[in-house]
Amino acid sequence: MTLKPAEQQPSLFPINVADEAQATLDTTSTFAANLSLPVHRWFRYPAGFSAVWVHEILCREKERGRCRVLDPFAGCGTVLIEAESSRADAMGIEAHPFIARVAAAKLHWREKPSEFRAFALSVLDRAQSIDDDPGPYPQLIQRCYPPEVLKSLDRLKRAWLDAADGSLSSELTWLALASVLRECSPVGTAQWQYILPGKRKARALDPYDAFLLRIWLMSGDMTALQAAHAGRPAILLRGDARDCSAIPPGWADLVITSPPYANNYDYADATRLEMCFFGDVEGWGDLQQAVRRYLVRSCTQHVARDVDDTLRMLQDRRLTPIRDEIQHVCHLLSAERQNHGGKKAYHTMIAAYFLDLARVWMALRRVTARGARVCFVVGDSAPYGIHVPVERWLGELAVAAGFASYTFEKTRDRNVKWRNRKHRVPLQEGRLWVEG
Ligand SMILES: C[S@@+](CC[C@H](N)C(=O)[O-])C[C@H]1O[C@@H](n2cnc3c(N)ncnc32)[C@H](O)[C@@H]1O
Repeated sequence: MTLKPAEQQPSLFPINVADEAQATLDTTSTFAANLSLPVHRWFRYPAGFSAVWVHEILCREKERGRCRVLDPFAGCGTVLIEAESSRADAMGIEAHPFIARVAAAKLHWREKPSEFRAFALSVLDRAQSIDDDPGPYPQLIQRCYPPEVLKSLDRLKRAWLDAADGSLSSELTWLALASVLRECSPVGTAQWQYILPGKRKARALDPYDAFLLRIWLMSGDMTALQAAHAGRPAILLRGDARDCSAIPPGWADLVITSPPYANNYDYADATRLEMCFFGDVEGWGDLQQAVRRYLVRSCTQHVARDVDDTLRMLQDRRLTPIRDEIQHVCHLLSAERQNHGGKKAYHTMIAAYFLDLARVWMALRRVTARGARVCFVVGDSAPYGIHVPVERWLGELAVAAGFASYTFEKTRDRNVKWRNRKHRVPLQEGRLWVEG
């Protein structure tokens, strides 16, 4: 039982992009180009969006008098770093403990490069003089690294732990180590989250070489950026976009962000390798407690215990503006689930996701000034091939929370080029602009 594919449905949104071909090339939602930009490139976060695009929006909105920007889903800090260089005031919220730490460390780019280098190089020196074997590591780590490689990584970690003092240099050094972990593994890593111990990579770096290179890359970026500008430091808060509790009422006049999509991507699993290495979790079983419980519910793993709560969630008054449609879609998902071995609780995930996002809009209304602009980079989804008009529902929830209006600007098509697609419902990605 599926909904009609989107191409057979009436157009839901005004599409403001004149040239469809250009829209297909739009890179707003991709992180790839950030890998050549100072500071952004310190940690590869495929969930991140384009720093160049953020910079353009910031410049344009600054000319219109908007210079207090909030990113409630700050990720690895793309908006915050760009706001600093655009001399806008910026606050960001990130709920994922590991990713929040990455973003916070990146914001330490103002630290003296020479001090960071001295600290990090002393860690490297000390690591090379440790000669005992690594202690026990979780199975995932053992499958991802040959013993010699793990020995070097473990020595780097232990040398860092000995030196760690909570200073800016210490956190930057932690990031240098965290950011080379995947490069040093000879096993495959999927472009998105999952490490694939069954696949091999053509080339893996030696841990000491990779760490040294990273130290020089980071300290070089720090020197370059410090010479180029000294905008106001951005503030990153480890918190929850669903309440934005630490943001003063009416503070932001601009919001640039990208929430998790309702597409079953598991942000907790995305950093399982790194968190296992540092001892933050032992394995997959710890992720719910250590990470997922803080996040918007955008994957089925997250809602495993909420299935019996689905009907109650759908009755929640915060879903009133979309109630009939979401109930219909969740009903279809619940029925379709019986046709699949995995019996994924997409119906629960969709109910929980929109309830969470309704809370986000209410929180954003509280912390934004009248006349603020909000941009959500977002895409729709079609679990089990059943289309969920994410942009429109988010727009409706925004208006119900007190914003004046919304439009959707499509930037690219999705689910059109992969051969192994699970379904053939055409999807789209773009910018949801909310005003008021
Ligand atoms: C699409 S990513 C944003 C990436 C970001 N634009 C960047 O360039 O790095 C969404 C982020 O929202 C975070 N997140 C999920 N639930 C959250 C919540 N309740 N509050 C704050 N952040 C949350 C995720 O951990 C993830 O980093």
